[in-house]
Amino acid sequence: MTPKVAVFDAYGTLFDVAAAARRAAQEPGGAALAAHWQDLAVLWRDKQLQYTWLRAITGAHADFWQVTTEALDYALELQGLADNTALRARLLALYRELDAFPEVAAMLRTLKQHGLPTAILSNGSPDMLLSAVSSAAIGDALDAVLSVEDVGVFKPDARVYAMVCDKFACDPSEVLFVSSNGWDAAGATGFGFTTVWVNRSGLPVDRLPWAPTHTLTDLSTLPELALTA
Ligand code: LAC
Repeated sequence: MTPKVAVFDAYGTLFDVAAAARRAAQEPGGAALAAHWQDLAVLWRDKQLQYTWLRAITGAHADFWQVTTEALDYALELQGLADNTALRARLLALYRELDAFPEVAAMLRTLKQHGLPTAILSNGSPDMLLSAVSSAAIGDALDAVLSVEDVGVFKPDARVYAMVCDKFACDPSEVLFVSSNGWDAAGATGFGFTTVWVNRSGLPVDRLPWAPTHTLTDLSTLPELALTA
């Protein structure tokens, strides 16, 4: 069955979350990161996600920008960089204009040309998402940008996935949900979406009660899958 809408996770799926640390390390003033930018990127991302899960299960919601900033502060302190305020400011600025993965714009436009509506469903706050979409110049290829701020809880809470069904007046089974985060693809499968896990780095599948419906190594073949599914 062809889906009624293709919905994408943002961070890690459309936008490369490692790009901020990678770019900062290459810039003047980035010497402190030169040898460690990958460690910082991984630690920053891991902490950011842990904080979203902890805030979701304790009901202590704060928006994704606050969580992203707090995760960076933890990561910088662990790496002995807590005093480098210029680096901190630069990393946060770069996070607002992350690179999209190279195949993203063409992939979204192909879906649109074939009449399949597209959307983002993200933990990101609306201003962060606006900034990322605009710097990647993909706004014309998206029908909706949905932020968890409308429900005040992070993924994988079911209220987040339900936003898609409300917005597009459809049943979960009519949604194709795409995420590079194994836990997000799993949570969305549990909600009833057909899911695609974009496994760019050959990770093992998460041991959770739900498994992704499909797995791809990048987004270039997503239109083929979406339009014939
Ligand atoms: C998002 C995070 C999970 O964009 O990457 O929702």
